Amino acid sequence: MIKTVRDVDLAGKRIIMRVDFNVPMKDGVVQDDTRIQAALPTIKYILEQNPKSLVLMSHLGDPKKDVKKAQEKAEKAGKPFTEADKEAFINGKNRMKPVAEYLSKVLGKPVEFPGACLGLKDKIDALSNGAVMMLENTRFEPGETSKDMAEQEAMAKELATYGDIYVNDAFGTAHRAHASTATIAKFMKTSVGGFLMEKEVKYLEPMVTNPPKPMTAIIGGAKVSSKIAVLESLLKNASSLIIGGGMAYTFLKAQGHSIGKSLVEDDFIDTAKNLLSKAAEKGVKIILPVDHLGAEEFSPDAKPVVIDGVDIPDNLMGMDVGKKTIEIYKDTILNSKSIVWNGPVGVFEFEAFSKGTGEVAHLVAEATSKGAVSVVGGGDSVAAVNKFNLASKMSHVSTGGGASLEFLEGKTLPGIAVLETK
Ligand code: 3PG
Repeated sequence: MIKTVRDVDLAGKRIIMRVDFNVPMKDGVVQDDTRIQAALPTIKYILEQNPKSLVLMSHLGDPKKDVKKAQEKAEKAGKPFTEADKEAFINGKNRMKPVAEYLSKVLGKPVEFPGACLGLKDKIDALSNGAVMMLENTRFEPGETSKDMAEQEAMAKELATYGDIYVNDAFGTAHRAHASTATIAKFMKTSVGGFLMEKEVKYLEPMVTNPPKPMTAIIGGAKVSSKIAVLESLLKNASSLIIGGGMAYTFLKAQGHSIGKSLVEDDFIDTAKNLLSKAAEKGVKIILPVDHLGAEEFSPDAKPVVIDGVDIPDNLMGMDVGKKTIEIYKDTILNSKSIVWNGPVGVFEFEAFSKGTGEVAHLVAEATSKGAVSVVGGGDSVAAVNKFNLASKMSHVSTGGGASLEFLEGKTLPGIAVLETK
């Protein structure tokens, strides 16, 4: 178990804390504050312990990559992308100032924003007792993500001078081995987790070690290639594995079914066959769609066509699961003692094809109300749970996308591995 802020004496100490405030931004306005709210319990607890100072750091998008994308988009549209456009884009998307202001509002306390990330030791030492400061986006500094360890360590070493105790509550970024997420701990005497980190580990870990059984894993999403590692990992403990979304068609093709114009990864047919035979050996029930809602084209306006069987006609593509499949889901999910869900089972962002994913969300909520432990991880399934207003009905909705996926794959996350244990 990781040590947390509860296990160390914070009074009079300078705290340097990594949070994941990588929140969606539009024109300098925070669009969704879930990750900020999720870090508040740790921030408030630290401040109640009368620390000398609390310095928060986070990345916010990836300025270099984000600018490149914006530039390509402008070029494609035949629009100019001047230096002024670039500056305005970065100000609206990657600068931490509006996030610091937002935090100040929800915290009810001033949050100093120095407009930089490095070169701040003297400023931090001069902060008044109990002051909070939010650094500029760590990814403006090349050292943060540098593959040159000397460069990354130089930045980590400087960040380490900002605090006596390092707190990592950035579960969403725990899969990154960066200066502020992991390397900093090399230069700190004390490195502990926050309450969010603790909660994420508490709910996710049993799903890969020893979940209450029977355990059902619901894995959806477009591609087998991005989900194969998590499927393999969950196969170890699951009684049933529901495979939905775009990747289900690769599995159906591997079983010899016709899949029409559905999404398929032909390079992964053998991988799918392998997983199916491993599951059969272990006695894990694989649940693939037995009927579908299809369409002639991939479009929000496409006309839904009921496909009352597993095989999909040549002119159609599978877009969502059908009624019979939902009945099977119902039976399986409501009889589970634990459920882990990553990825939608249909194109839920198109209203006409969102029913299957909506039903999954309701069934997981119902199972939870009957005592099952449910963990929802991964960007799209979290978006789905929010769309159907069911987040509060789940045992745990992870704040991690890539991080929760890698955790469920059974990987050791660098940002967690550096924390002290008890
Ligand atoms: C996320 O949004 O998944 C985390 O903040 C990590 O962001 P990254 O993928 O840019 O490292």
